[in-house]
Amino acid sequence: MTIQKMIFDLIHMYIVRDLVGPIEKSRYACFGSESRIYKPLIHDKYRNRVSIGKDTVIGKYSRIQCYPNENMEIGRLVIGDGCRIGNRCSFLCGGDITIGNGVLMASDILISSENHSINPESQVWYMSQPLRCDKIIIKDGCWIGEKVCILPGVSIGTKSVIGAGSIVTKNIPDYSIAVGNPAKVIKKYDFEKSKWMSIYKEANYDGR
Ligand SMILES: CC(C)(COP(=O)(O)OP(=O)(O)OC[C@H]1O[C@@H](n2cnc3c(N)ncnc32)[C@H](O)[C@@H]1OP(=O)(O)O)[C@@H](O)C(=O)NCCC(=O)NCCS
Repeated sequence: MTIQKMIFDLIHMYIVRDLVGPIEKSRYACFGSESRIYKPLIHDKYRNRVSIGKDTVIGKYSRIQCYPNENMEIGRLVIGDGCRIGNRCSFLCGGDITIGNGVLMASDILISSENHSINPESQVWYMSQPLRCDKIIIKDGCWIGEKVCILPGVSIGTKSVIGAGSIVTKNIPDYSIAVGNPAKVIKKYDFEKSKWMSIYKEANYDGR
């Protein structure tokens, strides 16, 4: 860590008080060197289910919540090294959420590995029905645009891009650009031509 970074962190931890400090960091399963989480941060409990890699930054007003699933196992959030995550991003971890290295996430993103059960005949409201959870994986080097929602059970492949405002309901393969609601792949990277190729135009694809 450079001396400038150390001074910046000390000022922000003890004077501005907008960074998660050393006592809070020690409650995480892992909090890598040079990583920062800005406050305010909504984070009730189960910090021991959260691992943050090295040199990762998470913006303010983020929400990290880990919950027990149907089997009473508590979801885990694992974020890799060198990630940049904007403001007001929510990580709702009923199932495990794994984010690789070098992932860029804009702001106002929802990543939810849980759904409430929705039995209208139950005697309890949806909010009290058991969570149905499925893991989410975002692989190395992805770029997730502003206001994206990523829903339970989804995997996003290496170095893929999700366009702003997209709702990701199905797996997105490696080296793909996906946009829309529900998100569909519109381009794939062609390593022979060294460029992104539009799949629906080139192959007369009309599935958008
Ligand atoms: C997806 C994105 C990266 C552009 O990729 P691109 O390969 O340059 O895409 P193009 O501009 O060639 O657009 C291809 C098609 O997708 C559509 N498209 C692009 N982005 C879209 C989006 N976010 N939602 C819906 N459709 C989108 C375009 O309208 C175009 O449609 P058409 O072929 O019918 O005209 C960009 O549009 C985007 O959403 N970036 C995120 C920006 C952001 O969140 N920034 C925050 C800073 S981290």
